[in-house]
Amino acid sequence: MKPTFLERTLLGATLMAVAATAAADAALAERKFCFSCHHATETGLGPSFQAIAARHGARRAQMAPVLAYKIQHGGGGNWGVVPMVPSQNVSEADATALARWILGL
Ligand code: HEC
Repeated sequence: MKPTFLERTLLGATLMAVAATAAADAALAERKFCFSCHHATETGLGPSFQAIAARHGARRAQMAPVLAYKIQHGGGGNWGVVPMVPSQNVSEADATALARWILGL
């Protein structure tokens, strides 16, 4: 069955909304200085966001709150000897949005 004009329009709008959300999440990560230690695909002081998604992405639902907690409060031991510092200027909602965004990369 061919998609109707309305279905195609809705699909297009959904894809645009998804792209807009991803751009907003990237901007949020930028504002919260995540990129001073993390890069999209290369290891920095912290693991790349792609590596984090590859490790935890399959258990996205369980990992989103775990990573959100770690983004806010800091922690270590999962990737190497360097721990992540707490980001107290990141709200719980922002931390959750960032965790979901990273896991979806
Ligand atoms: C000062 C450097 C630094 C900053 C700033 C930083 N991180 Fe990290 N991050 C790290 C390090 C180091 C690790 C690895 C910790 C470990 O080994 O468990 C890490 C790990 C992570 C992980 C994976 C945790 C796990 O257990 O697998 C996520 C997700 C993450 N960071 C997201 C963020 C986000 C989002 C921000 C911005 C709010 C941010 N980080 C800011 C250094 C940093």
